[in-house]
Amino acid sequence: MLVLGIETSCDETAVALVENGKRILSNVVSSSLHLHKKYGGVVPEIATRYHVELINCVLAEALNKAKAKPKDIDLIAAVYGPGLVGALLIGLSLAKALSLSLNKPLVGVNHLQAHLYAAMMEKKRIRFPFVGFVVSGGHTNLFYVRDYLRWQMIGKTRDDAAGESFDKVAKILKLGYPGGPIIERRALQGNSTKIRFPRSYLEEDSLDFSFSGVKTAVLYYVRDHGIRNIAASFQEAVIDILTEKAAKACRLKKVKDFVAGGGVLANQRLRKSLSESLAEQGIRVHFPKLKLCQDNAVMVAGLSYQLYRRGVVSNLNLEVAPNLKV
Ligand code: KG4
Ligand code: ZN
Repeated sequence: MLVLGIETSCDETAVALVENGKRILSNVVSSSLHLHKKYGGVVPEIATRYHVELINCVLAEALNKAKAKPKDIDLIAAVYGPGLVGALLIGLSLAKALSLSLNKPLVGVNHLQAHLYAAMMEKKRIRFPFVGFVVSGGHTNLFYVRDYLRWQMIGKTRDDAAGESFDKVAKILKLGYPGGPIIERRALQGNSTKIRFPRSYLEEDSLDFSFSGVKTAVLYYVRDHGIRNIAASFQEAVIDILTEKAAKACRLKKVKDFVAGGGVLANQRLRKSLSESLAEQGIRVHFPKLKLCQDNAVMVAGLSYQLYRRGVVSNLNLEVAPNLKV
């Protein structure tokens, strides 16, 4: 079954063709990141206009690269939330138009679930139930996933997302945007034990997150001491929190598998920390390939295939859900 996936929830305009939920025939991503750089964050209006301008070219290229014609497509999938309302509307409207004109079924996909499916594209079998962890610029969420149709959110951030804290700290340090990759690079040259930034674990039994405290601590430290070793020490604080809560969630839920996804999983230090800590608990850890950590449409097409096989179909009344939870 050939699935066309569309992703436009934030600043990536992406279309992909995937066969039977696993075989990637094309994966086209065009990002408007360069247009947001000078503002130090994604500007929704700019992202939305970029989607309108680019989506038809991205679609044509995805079909071209897969050597497919519209009539070959069996299923159309698009992210309907969470994300920027205007941005979501572009992708979902295209998906509806294609579904109607080609007379093929439509499946609306949750962006966060798709991020976790990115790790499930690999041949390796992942056993349900598992703990899922989405760590991106907009989200820091822990899920308990019983099967493809039963997702429960068990932890969320109460303020900044982890990726957002990288972006904000990079801004304080005047390093540029997006902050994640720059801080990771800087951290390699610094000593992470030089400064002990606070780690907020909230209440003992909570799986929620808070990153605004460590961000503020960085702000005061810069004011008083200058910027040496901050990147490494800040990164270490965030990774400690993420690792600790992921391990706690796996213990509480007694799972044997852990699946993570989202832009921050591009961070090698985070991957290592999660792998090592969870392996000690005898848990199998699954990450997406680096290319599939960031927003893409492969994960959307892939997940929609699994949902469709289990009876999920959306109708043309499906609305975008900017604040969609699970
Ligand atoms: O998943 P994503 O591409 O978009 C969202 O859905 O948010 O994630 C982007 C986020 C940004 O905050 C960026 O700073 C962060 O992921 N990021 C990283 C790294 N690469 C990207 N954070 C830490 N280390 C990295 N290497
Ligand atoms: Zn994302």
